[in-house]
Amino acid sequence: MQIFLDTANIDQIKQAAGLGIISGVTTNPSLLAKETTADYETVTKKICSIIDGPVSVEVLSETADEMIKEARIKAKWAPNVNIKIPITPDGLTATSVLSEEGIDVNMTLCFSANQALLGALAGAAYVSIFVGRLDDVGQDGMQVVEDTIKILANYPDLEAQVIAASIRNPMHVTYAAMAGADVATVPYAVLMQMIQHPLTDAGIKRFLDDWKKVANK
Ligand code: E4P
Repeated sequence: MQIFLDTANIDQIKQAAGLGIISGVTTNPSLLAKETTADYETVTKKICSIIDGPVSVEVLSETADEMIKEARIKAKWAPNVNIKIPITPDGLTATSVLSEEGIDVNMTLCFSANQALLGALAGAAYVSIFVGRLDDVGQDGMQVVEDTIKILANYPDLEAQVIAASIRNPMHVTYAAMAGADVATVPYAVLMQMIQHPLTDAGIKRFLDDWKKVANK
């Protein structure tokens, strides 16, 4: 499973890129609004200069025609940009057209396996299941990831990769990997939680303390 970083924060992206385990980045308007520079083009180009892998950039239009126009412009911002389009009737139309043109689409805001299936049928390169937001309303977000993976495995012609999105904690990442998700897109804080373990810290301290005892003899 690949790990994408779910942020528009350049410092976080630089830090995470330095770890050598990040394969892409996903952004959205809410993430961008948190940053001091909310110029989507400037931020995207900066991200793409740091990350070679896919960088998802969301459309802000709501009609198919407008989404298509916007996507064509944004896809030119960098070679590794893919376009996030919400699963709506207009979003599906736009995805069908854009995927025919060779523009990779990340079908976003999927909350059911059927929505993800439709995104895959429209030719989306990625379908993003929002696990945390489903959990928030008392549904089982990871079950939707598992169902989608199972469905797409039945139809090898459908090439969409499954992204476990709206990740809230390290267990979401573990379960996404166990389910066979292609990608988990994780906030920086969750990535840091994945790295840390108190027993690792205690183990390093004990090794160094023991070594100091020998070195001081
Ligand atoms: C996915 O691509 C979205 O950017 C993201 O995972 C949304 O997560 P949230 O529910 O934490 O906003």
